[in-house]
Parts: sequence; structure tokens; C-alpha cells
Amino acid sequence: MKFFIDTASLDEIRAAAELGVLDGVTTNPSLIAKIVRDPSNFTYSDFKEHIAKICDIVDGPVSAEVTTLKAEEMIAQGEDLAAIHENVVVKCPLTVDGLKAIRHFSQQGIRTNATLVFSPNQALLAAKAGADYVSPFVGRLDDISTDGMGLVEQIVTMYDNYGYLTEVIVASVRHPQHVVEASMIGADIATIPYPVIRQLANHPLTDAGLKKFMEDAAVMKR
Ligand code: E4P
Repeated sequence: MKFFIDTASLDEIRAAAELGVLDGVTTNPSLIAKIVRDPSNFTYSDFKEHIAKICDIVDGPVSAEVTTLKAEEMIAQGEDLAAIHENVVVKCPLTVDGLKAIRHFSQQGIRTNATLVFSPNQALLAAKAGADYVSPFVGRLDDISTDGMGLVEQIVTMYDNYGYLTEVIVASVRHPQHVVEASMIGADIATIPYPVIRQLANHPLTDAGLKKFMEDAAVMKR
């Protein structure tokens, strides 16, 4: 199973990379907005520079999202984003226009991540259009009392049934149990916020056991 980090923060990306468990990065416009100190001075070229900095830190897929709605505009922006670095994956919303753009990119050999996926049929369309990755948003579905992980299970089954190579990224992860369930289902990837990555390492019995070991080790002479 691959772990991506779901953030645009360079500090968080560096910290997760240092753990040695990081396989890639996903960003979206909201995550970018969070790290911008002065929005009035943040340009599209600053955005591209930021994506390039992320690519310098992590040697793996880095999803950069298009910020346009029409297929032709997504295609122009996606080609521009893909030119930043070979690891850039163009993130397109699962809309009719997004599908057209995904099909275009797939024919051009530009990798894509179909995002904002909330139904099995959207995921099927993403695979048929040639998306390299599909991102079902489990947390946002859970928020509206819908089974987010149930959707992941459906997508994994559908893709297995037909041998689609599109990799499933469990997105909108909110807590460690989402990661456990994603791995039990056999999802290819979970994209995880940094605080949740840290939570994965925690266990109260580890803390208690370590405390006792340190106390007992203190009887030894240095
Ligand atoms: C990742 O690709 C998604 O953009 C992200 O996981 C969405 O997460 P959120 O629902 O916490 O905003």
C-alpha cells in the first residue's frame, strides 16, 4: 500500500518524507490556499513554483489540480502543470468536461488523478477515460451519513472485475481507522493529512511500555 500526504505545506511534506514512508503528495486549491500568507500577491506562477518545490522534496507522484471548468481550459492548464516536472499528476474534477480532459491527457501520456469522486459510476467513468488515479472522498461522504469506505470497496471490486489499472487513492482521510479500512479493502493508496500520519505511529501501550523500559534501563551503568 502506498502512502501519499494530503497537504501543500512544505514543512509537513519534509517531515513525512523524513519518516521514510512517503510515496507521493496530493494537493488541491483549498490546501494551497491554506499555505498562502498573502493571497493578494500569490500568482499562478507562484503556484507552479510551489509545486516544483514539492517535486524537489518527494520523488513520487505529485497531484496538482486544475483551477478551470471547461475541458479546453483544463487541457491548456494541465499541459502547463505537467511541464513543471515529470512527477506532476494533473488532478481533474470528475465532471463531463473533466472526463474529456482526462481522455486527452491519457492519449498524450500525461498522468491524471480524477478527483471529487463520490459514486461508483463516476469511478467507472474515470477508469474508462484512462485516469491513472481515482480519488473517492471518504470523509466528506461520512460527513453526510453515507458510507465512504463502502464506496472504496465498490470501486476496488469494479476495477478488479475488469482489470482496470487505475489506482484507487482513498482521499478525504480523517482518522487512522480510515487507513486501516482502506488497507483491508486493498485500496492502492491512502492520501493522509500529516497529523493523521503521525497518529498512525501512536499507541498508549507503546508509551507505557517504553516508560517502564526506560525506568528499568536506568539501573544500568552508562
Ligand atoms: C485529496 O486528493 C483531496 O483533495 C482531499 O483528500 C480532500 O480532503 P478533505 O475532504 O479533508 O478536504
